[in-house]
Amino acid sequence: RKRVVSGVQPTGSIHLGNYLGAIKNWVALQDTYETLFFIVDLHAITLPYDPQELRKATRDTAALYLACGVDISKASVFVQSHVRAHVDLMWLLSSSTPIGWLQKMTQFKEKSRKEGGENASVSLLTYPVLMAADILLYKSDFVPVGEDQKQHLELARDLAQRVNNLYGGRKWKKLGGRGGSIFKIPEPLIPQVGARVMSLTDGRSKMSKSAPSDQSRINLLDSKDLIADKIKRCKTDSFVGLEYDNAERPECNNLLSVYQIVSGKTKDEVMEECKDMSWGTFKPLLTDAVVEHLSPIQVRYQEITAESAYLDKVLTEGADKATEIAEVTIRNLKQAMGFYI
Ligand code: TYM
Repeated sequence: RKRVVSGVQPTGSIHLGNYLGAIKNWVALQDTYETLFFIVDLHAITLPYDPQELRKATRDTAALYLACGVDISKASVFVQSHVRAHVDLMWLLSSSTPIGWLQKMTQFKEKSRKEGGENASVSLLTYPVLMAADILLYKSDFVPVGEDQKQHLELARDLAQRVNNLYGGRKWKKLGGRGGSIFKIPEPLIPQVGARVMSLTDGRSKMSKSAPSDQSRINLLDSKDLIADKIKRCKTDSFVGLEYDNAERPECNNLLSVYQIVSGKTKDEVMEECKDMSWGTFKPLLTDAVVEHLSPIQVRYQEITAESAYLDKVLTEGADKATEIAEVTIRNLKQAMGFYI
């Protein structure tokens, strides 16, 4: 069976962008593919953070995966730092990664600038190598992510290719290996709609955990009243009617897209229903659809977090399963790289 992996950072609260761009799509893939979903705690320490919060957010994020419909009878769920091979592989891959590849990453440039340039941590620079390790470790075929991770996926593909060329094939065979390629080249899976959910307060920037205003995002655990309030106050425009794909109306396109996904309707159905609506009519409709979609997730979340031993068991089993797969990859790569194993 083909394999799918993905992860979310346990920083701040999970929002509608994370859900519509990634987690919701994971759930759709678990019936067809072998799936591994992890909480990337090692990525969460690349920016200044609060240790108390990391610990809590790691558990909460795992609980949300399950609440969103990740089914542990089909998928493995685990914490990245519980599987040591992620860091092992990262080091091995680092030696084949040109610094230039990392320095030109958009997210690195943005985040390091915010950290004051030279003060940014080394791990912020090497972040994409760890992400490549997360993916290549499991010989993943597909990686379901939002649009903002596309460049990191590209790097993972380039790195896989580079290591295959440097150490795979005949060279590996001479060292007693099976030959051929060491890594599979992974493909990103980016959804048609929802790949880039925008901020509620500015339709030209993406919804993000780190935006200072909580009004800019809908968190999966927001109450009904809070969601209603955020949508009521969100940015709109003064055009007549509603429409998709008008570059002058990014907010309109975003809100229609969110409505489309949470209501389970098609683009045509949404247009048919909403094209003549005013914002005053559309906003309550959108609020109800979002609340209706999120409330079963919130109920399940409460149930899961009420029973803490259950979550620990899920994470231990997930880590065991992942470790089994990961160790084979590490062994192969070490052999190919000439380590005395
Ligand atoms: P993170 O934690 O920033 O985001 C988790 C997932 O949510 C998607 N996403 C969005 N999708 C649509 N609209 C938005 N506004 C939005 N904001 C975030 C992201 O694209 C992502 O899919 N580096 C990754 C985590 C990671 C990873 C991996 C992912 C580490 N290792 C291996 C896949 C495979 C990150 O920081 O995601």
